[in-house]
Amino acid sequence: MLSTSSLSDRVAFVRDHTTLAPVPLVPELRVHTATDVTPLWRATQAWLGTFGLDVPFWCVPWAGGQALARHVLDHPALVRGLRVVDFAAGSGIVGLACARAGAASVRAIDVDPLAEAACVLNAVANGVALEVSCADVVGSSVDADVLLAGDVWYERASAARFAPWLTEVARSGVHVLTGDPGRSYVPADLRELARHEVPTSRDLESTAFRLTRVLSFDLSTS
Ligand SMILES: C[S@@+](CC[C@H](N)C(=O)[O-])C[C@H]1O[C@@H](n2cnc3c(N)ncnc32)[C@H](O)[C@@H]1O
Repeated sequence: MLSTSSLSDRVAFVRDHTTLAPVPLVPELRVHTATDVTPLWRATQAWLGTFGLDVPFWCVPWAGGQALARHVLDHPALVRGLRVVDFAAGSGIVGLACARAGAASVRAIDVDPLAEAACVLNAVANGVALEVSCADVVGSSVDADVLLAGDVWYERASAARFAPWLTEVARSGVHVLTGDPGRSYVPADLRELARHEVPTSRDLESTAFRLTRVLSFDLSTS
């Protein structure tokens, strides 16, 4: 169903199963959010006719993304006038913050077609422009000035692909930042720029707050 659905069907699905709500750590932005994740999860599986799916990641702004979005809005010079990629965008929370902070362009990329729809809807809701792509670009070169990756270190196999690729991307001259609330597979050798106590969904995190770090892949000690 997902492969045959149109973007407008997916946008309608996201709109019908979420509420537009302020992002707890970034209340100047609003995203289409699931108030209760379990019914949305069931509805997504029923709509797709598939079971055993991952949690619908696009339906909440994750702690790592919230911290990165806060960091960008507090330090807009990081992205102002620059070309930015929001990698593993989910709801697009990080990309929305970059667009709001004055980035020249923002490309939100995710492998999930429903995330693509969520990013489209959330851009409209916040009155900003995002270029949205549904693709797996891991391993490819990145034509951008800044790449931000919010909350991507939760699974061993994907982290093992992301870490060497993001290191290479940083070495190619792209400023690479990630936001991480202590997931198991976050690389150990990144430089900490900031930390935030991020309000989280108890449904998903079994805690009301997560201490979340903003980390730089530039591997510099300066
Ligand atoms: C925990 S969510 C984080 C979403 C968002 N960055 C945030 O912080 O709210 C992780 C996201 O990574 C996406 N993802 C997983 N593998 C990916 C890949 N190879 N390329 C792009 N996105 C990927 C998932 O679809 C999901 O939307």
